[in-house]
Amino acid sequence: MVRIAFTVAAFSLTYAHARISSVSRTVIINDSPYYLPTEPLVTLGQDTHNITGDPLPFTLLVDIGVGSNVKSLVENWEAIDDVFNKEFLNTVVLAGSSLDASGDLMSFLNESDTQMLLTPTDMSSALSPSIFSQLADTDLPAGPYILAHDATGSPAVYAPLRLHYDHSQSFYKSTVMKSDGSYEVVSASLDTDSSPYIAVPSRVHTLGKNDSRLPLAGLRVSVKDLYYMKGLVTSAGNRAFYATYPARNSTGPAITRLTDLGAHMVGTTKMVQFANGDRATADWVDYHAPFSPRGDGYLEPSGSSTGAGTSIATLDWLDVSLGSDTGGSVRSPAALNGVYGIRPSVDAISLDEVLPLSPILDTAGYLTRSPKLFSSFGKAWYGESFQSYPAFPKKLLVSDDFLSVTDAANAVYSPWIEKLRSFLGGETVGNFSIEGIGIDHLFAYYQWTNVGKPLFEDYAAQNGGRSPHINPQVRYRWRYGESKGADGYAVELEKRETFENWTLSNFLTGNAESCTESIFLYLINSGTYTSRETYYSSPFIIPFGFSSSRVANLARSAEVVIPIGQIPFHSNITEVEEYLPVSISLVARRGCDFVLLDLVDKLADEGLVQEVHQEKPQIQLHAICT
Ligand SMILES: *[C@@H]1O[C@H](CO)[C@@H](O)[C@H](O)[C@H]1NC(C)=O
Ligand SMILES: *[C@@H]1O[C@H](CO)[C@@H](O)[C@H](O)[C@H]1NC(C)=O
Ligand SMILES: *[C@@H]1O[C@H](CO)[C@@H](O)[C@H](O)[C@H]1NC(C)=O
Ligand SMILES: *[C@@H]1O[C@H](CO)[C@@H](O)[C@H](O)[C@H]1NC(C)=O
Ligand SMILES: *[C@@H]1O[C@H](CO)[C@@H](O)[C@H](O)[C@H]1NC(C)=O
Ligand SMILES: *[C@@H]1O[C@H](CO)[C@@H](O)[C@H](O)[C@H]1NC(C)=O
Ligand SMILES: *[C@@H]1O[C@H](CO)[C@@H](O)[C@H](O)[C@H]1NC(C)=O
Repeated sequence: MVRIAFTVAAFSLTYAHARISSVSRTVIINDSPYYLPTEPLVTLGQDTHNITGDPLPFTLLVDIGVGSNVKSLVENWEAIDDVFNKEFLNTVVLAGSSLDASGDLMSFLNESDTQMLLTPTDMSSALSPSIFSQLADTDLPAGPYILAHDATGSPAVYAPLRLHYDHSQSFYKSTVMKSDGSYEVVSASLDTDSSPYIAVPSRVHTLGKNDSRLPLAGLRVSVKDLYYMKGLVTSAGNRAFYATYPARNSTGPAITRLTDLGAHMVGTTKMVQFANGDRATADWVDYHAPFSPRGDGYLEPSGSSTGAGTSIATLDWLDVSLGSDTGGSVRSPAALNGVYGIRPSVDAISLDEVLPLSPILDTAGYLTRSPKLFSSFGKAWYGESFQSYPAFPKKLLVSDDFLSVTDAANAVYSPWIEKLRSFLGGETVGNFSIEGIGIDHLFAYYQWTNVGKPLFEDYAAQNGGRSPHINPQVRYRWRYGESKGADGYAVELEKRETFENWTLSNFLTGNAESCTESIFLYLINSGTYTSRETYYSSPFIIPFGFSSSRVANLARSAEVVIPIGQIPFHSNITEVEEYLPVSISLVARRGCDFVLLDLVDKLADEGLVQEVHQEKPQIQLHAICT
């Protein structure tokens, strides 16, 4: 039997006086929590007939042909989906054209302890014929559903969302998109030490829908809390910003493109304030920094796409996390957490309705655990901005950064770089060094002028002339930017352009066959440990100076971060040997993004890169997640 406990937030069936505009429910089926959003998939129309069990979980089987193997179909559902489970088989509805209510199906249902089977010809008295025929006519895909009354008392079919605990504390809130394209917050909560529970949709409902029209069908994606989403209030990591501005009235094209392609935005993730560079204990004053699962679980979690990195590294029910990268905000968390990350070329996708740091450098990047998904997601998201090329570049420019790594890290890097060279059938230029230029306030002046100053004014207007609290790091940067002024900013802009021009014509030059003549390889995380307990005596200040990671920033070109191994260290917290990720960065000429994504895809086929997985690790990255 299905054992159900459910709580109703505001639900009136028989007392029609209260004007209830919406109802959402948390339903516990056995020990697993589910959420029914305010909007059902279909309302079946007023009906006075009995529904035994309300809410009533059921499985919809569609077009089960004669001789089809229902058992293996359902076993696959159990393997791929955390929403479906056997309890949904308690009630089974058969729909579609070719129905086989005998043989395979009946013995399977008997085995599955199915209590109620509904077919067009043979109906249980508990569900009225009219409800059933409507149900069978809904065109819903096969999978798990819940039948329950909606806010008006009509029977309705809901897509149950499975609720998951976020032990990485990555999320601000869980979200679900409504039929008008706006978002609502998942109102469910269960026992937690801080994070909300995150609701995810069934993967069964989108089986077979992943085609060229919906290449991202069913993907669960987390969103850094600087992408504006219609109906939601944005924090950008700052309490005053959250309090000052109302819910957004529009969602930008970066997000709508993803949902148009079938992806599901499961929630918003924590970030370093205004996408700058805070460190966990020293600078995260407004909110508590999320936890990376790597090392001993108490590493500096990096940023600014902090929750993006920790969520994708920790939570295996999440597929992709969206970040943004201006000066390293996707690449650093990707490297620190041992996952795949991209900083695309500037203009890969529109950043309308995204909080800016420095528009000339801002990019919409993302992180994944799977190299294959890393490749296919970017090719779908960045769509028409780039193209694939017939060949890969043959020349690897290997940064002299690698000269300074430990023997343990070198034992990971050297053979990998050699395998890459051999795969490309090309050559390496070792100990490659570039003398770059320091750009000191492309972020600070622009963001102060366009985000900081308006916030101070709007906050003051709402709060009797008071100033908002800004984390020390950002406060310092904004003041610095303000002090340099528009003239100083113009000088830096010109320096940047000089660097980009030099890069395009002298360093990452073009090639008709492979887009980029060469790939620049540099060290992005050689298994270093920075404790999140560290106190610092002053703000991080402005990222002055030049380093290898500045190439893609200033030349506005494409860079991918790839986890290639791990090295052990002794943790003085857990007092056992733990592991730290070793990651490498590949930088290509501006606009050659698909060459890097195609390369990662091929390297996965070749076994040079692998899926990062918590439970049965191939790359044995330690994770506190089970
Ligand atoms: C509800 O179910 C009971 C038991 O099956 C039946 O006696 C009763 O007539 C039903 N009521 C309606 C409105 O169908
Ligand atoms: C259902 O399964 C049980 C054993 O699990 C068996 O005894 C019974 O005959 C089966 N009934 C049908 C209708 O197949
Ligand atoms: C969609 O299918 C293609 C081809 O089978 C696969 O490469 C891709 O990863 C799939 N995408 C999703 C979102 O499942
Ligand atoms: C949407 O919000 C923006 C920013 O607050 C505002 O300027 C604009 O007028 C709003 N548009 C609508 C249609 O309400
Ligand atoms: C890089 O420098 C190291 C140390 O100076 C040297 O041993 C090595 O041969 C150099 N590698 C290449 C490819 O030039
Ligand atoms: C960079 O190159 C472009 C195109 O050739 C040119 O218009 C521009 O003046 C150059 N900028 C600088 C700072 O050299
Ligand atoms: C633990 O190790 C880290 C990294 O080596 C170090 O920063 C920290 O001070 C150590 N803590 C203690 C209590 O020894």
